[in-house]
Amino acid sequence: MIFVKLQLVEVTSFTPPQPPLLRHKERVPQTSYPGQHISKKCIIWPWITAAVSKPTAEISSPNVTCRENAVVSSSSSSFGEVSSPPLKKVSANSLQYPSGYLGAAPERPKDEGSGDVRNAMGYLTNIFSSKVYDVAIESPLQRAVKLSKRLGNDVWLKREDLQPVFSFKLRGAYNMMSKLPKEQLERGVICSSAGNHAQGVALAAKRLECSAVIAMPVTTPEIKWQSVKSLGATVVLVGDTYDEAQAYAKKRAKEEGRTFIPPFDHPDVIMGQGTVGMEIVRQMRGPLHAIFVPVGGGGLISGVAAFVKRVSPEVKIIGVEPFDANAMALSLHHGERVMLDRVGGFADGVAVKEVGEETFRLCRELVDGVVLVSRDAVCASIKDMFEEQRSILEPAGALALAGAEAYCKYYGLKGKNIVAITSGANMNFDKLRVVTELANVGRQQEAMLATILPEQPGSFKQFCELVGPMNITELKYRCSSEKEAVVLYSVAVRTVSELGAMKQRMESSQLRTYNLTASDLVKDHLRYLMGGRLNVENEVLCKFTFPERPGALMKFLHTFSPRWNISLFHYRGQGETGANILVGIQVAEGEMEEFHRRASSLKYDYVLVTDDKDFQLLMH
Ligand SMILES: Cc1ncc(COP(=O)(O)O)c(C=O)c1O
Repeated sequence: MIFVKLQLVEVTSFTPPQPPLLRHKERVPQTSYPGQHISKKCIIWPWITAAVSKPTAEISSPNVTCRENAVVSSSSSSFGEVSSPPLKKVSANSLQYPSGYLGAAPERPKDEGSGDVRNAMGYLTNIFSSKVYDVAIESPLQRAVKLSKRLGNDVWLKREDLQPVFSFKLRGAYNMMSKLPKEQLERGVICSSAGNHAQGVALAAKRLECSAVIAMPVTTPEIKWQSVKSLGATVVLVGDTYDEAQAYAKKRAKEEGRTFIPPFDHPDVIMGQGTVGMEIVRQMRGPLHAIFVPVGGGGLISGVAAFVKRVSPEVKIIGVEPFDANAMALSLHHGERVMLDRVGGFADGVAVKEVGEETFRLCRELVDGVVLVSRDAVCASIKDMFEEQRSILEPAGALALAGAEAYCKYYGLKGKNIVAITSGANMNFDKLRVVTELANVGRQQEAMLATILPEQPGSFKQFCELVGPMNITELKYRCSSEKEAVVLYSVAVRTVSELGAMKQRMESSQLRTYNLTASDLVKDHLRYLMGGRLNVENEVLCKFTFPERPGALMKFLHTFSPRWNISLFHYRGQGETGANILVGIQVAEGEMEEFHRRASSLKYDYVLVTDDKDFQLLMH
C-alpha cells in the first residue's frame, strides 16, 4: 500500500504553487501569497513538496466571508435551486461517429414561434443593433496560409482569441448587461463560471460601472480567478463543481436583487455572441462553404446561426464538440435536451453536461450538424495555430479548427472557403505539457506501440535493430521475472507505410507488436507507470476524477483505506479543475457492491477499467 510509506519532511524555502489535489488540507498555511517567501518552517508530504500554498480569494462583499477551505461544504442542494425538470441521462459514448463526419443533423421542428424576440428574425435585428463594440473589438478574419495549403481549401480564422479578455464571451455578457434598466444595474450582477464567462461579466461590469459578484468553484485555477479579481469583480470561491457555484449565485441573486447573467442560455447573451456571425458575413469575400463553431452550452453557435442562416442560408453552420463532451450532438440526435453522465474536462470552455433550452431550440432549427474530434486532434490544432500565427489557443479555442480539418479530410473537400472560430486563448499553462505530448499523435506524426520480447540476452538489441530507420521518441523497458517482457515506445511517423513495415518486421521475428496510439489510458497513465508486469490479486482498476482541491485525496483514502489495499496510484496535474486519477484497489469479488457504495458516496466521477486490454497487456 503506497500511503503508509509516506513520511513527513520539513521544507523551509518557498517552492512554486502546483496543482493542489495532493495537498494535505490541514497543513495548508492560510496566509501566504504567490511570490512571498515562506520563512517559517512548514511541514508537508514529501511527494507534494511543491504544493505549499494557495492564496485565498479575497471576498470584498461584507456579507460573505468565504475562504476556499471554508466553503467547500456548500452544495447545490443547500441552495435549493432546481428550475427545469430533470433531463434524460446519457453517456457520451452512446453517440460516437468518425471524426470529421457531419453527424447529429437535426430534424427540423415545424412549429416555430413568431413575432417575439425569440423568433430568429428578432435575433437578426437585435444582433444588428447590439452594443458589444463598447467593449469588444471587431476581431480580424485571417487566412491560415499553411493550413490552407495543407488542406487544399481556404481556411479563415475568426480571431476571437484576440478579444480584450481573450475570448468572445464578453460580447454576450455585455449585450445582456447593457440592456438592463438603470435601477437593476445599480443593484449589481452575479454569475457563476470557472472561466471565460467570468472574465466577460467582470469586464462588462467595469465598463458599465456596476458591481459584479462572480461565483467560481474552489477548484478554479488561481490564474483564472486572479484575472477576474483584477478586473474589479468580487470573487467567491464556492463548491467543488460548476453546479454548486451556480446554485450559490442564483440564491444570492435572489437575496440581493442582483441580476443573474447566464453563460449561454439567454436571448441577449445569444445575440451578443451573434455579432461574431455578423462580422464574418461582412468580412468574408467570396462564397463561403461553412463556419465551424465550438459548442459548449450552445450560445455562440446559436447566435452565429441566427444571423448567418437568415442572410446567407446556403452557408453551413457546423458545431464542433469533443468526443467526450458531446451534449449538443446527443441532444440533437435525441430530438430533446439530454444530460451527460460524465463530461471530459480537457477543453474546459466547452465542458458542459447539458445545453441550454433556447440554444437547443435555435440549434435544432438552424445548424447543419456536429463534428466530433479527439483530444489529440485539438492538441494538434493548438500546434497548428502556434506554427501559423505564433499564438497559443486554449483547447476550446482550437476546437473549431480541429473540426474544420477533420471535416475537410473526411469529405475530401477542396477549393472552398471555410471559417473556423478560434474562440479563446485563456490557456492554463500546465496544460501545455499535455498539448505538447499529444500534438504529434493528433497529427498522426507519432505512434505509440508495445512489443513483447522474450526475456533473454540479446532480445532487446534485436528489437532495436528491427525498429531500424524509424526515429524512437520514447522508450520504456524493465526486465521481467516472467518469460516475457514488454517494451513501450513511441516512434515518429512520416508515412503510414513505414509504420506498417516496422510492425511487419517485428511480427516476422515473432515479436508481437500492438499499436496503442488510440488509448487514452495508456497516454494518460500507463506510459508513466511502466516498470514490469505483476499479477496483483483481485486488483480493480478505476479512473476517478477528483476535484483539484486540498483534502480531495484524503477524502478518497478515508473511503477505501484501510478497508482495502491500494495497489496502484497515478496522478499528474494537467491544469484541469478535475484531476484524472488512475487507482488500483484490491477488492475481492464478493465485496464489489460495498466498493461501489463507497465509491458513489465520494461523489467523484469514476469508471471501472479493470478489463482494459492495454492495461492487461502492459501491467499484468
Ligand atoms: C473559449 C470558448 N470556446 C467556446 C465556448 C463555448 O461557447 P458556448 O457555451 O456559447 O457554446 C466557450 C464557452 O465558455 C469558451 O470559453
